[in-house]
Amino acid sequence: MKKVFFSLGLVISLSVAGQPHTPMTPEQKALQKTMKTLAKGLTRIQYGILYNDQDELLAGVRMIKRTQDGFLTRHGEALKEYMPENPKFAVSLAKLSEKNIERYIRMMRSDIFSKKDYSRITAGYTHIMQECVGCHRKLRKRKW
Ligand code: HEC
Repeated sequence: MKKVFFSLGLVISLSVAGQPHTPMTPEQKALQKTMKTLAKGLTRIQYGILYNDQDELLAGVRMIKRTQDGFLTRHGEALKEYMPENPKFAVSLAKLSEKNIERYIRMMRSDIFSKKDYSRITAGYTHIMQECVGCHRKLRKRKW
């Protein structure tokens, strides 16, 4: 009998875990889309560094650039929801990260063309990654 209860409990908890949490709002979906593009771009940059592949590096840079024009600030409303206790902070964090990422991308682009110095390019990659993780640590709901 105990076993039956156990299995029943397992089935229930599995089906609960399988449920999506709350449905995503269109703003959250748009934010997620931007995030996925940023992640892909960064991955291509990493690949470009590891394989010494300039085309791949530039493709990654372009992917991140394509999300520009307020690529984070335009998600202000969605970002605010991740920090209801201090929505203004979420927006100013987005502004600052956006500015920094844009600057690092510009620097990386010129490093790719002029110096082809892979340690500088790698430093740029790390700086961008720090921006991503910096915001995620503050705004992300999900645990790593
Ligand atoms: C201004 C804040 C901010 C910055 C900067 C930021 N993100 Fe995010 N990111 C978020 C938030 C908020 C989420 C949603 C987290 C959640 O719901 O778990 C997220 C989620 C993600 C996800 C998960 C998407 C999914 O499908 O679940 C990826 C991947 C991601 N970000 C990549 C990046 C990369 C790469 C960068 C840097 C180039 C970056 N992010 C910079 C706020 C930010």
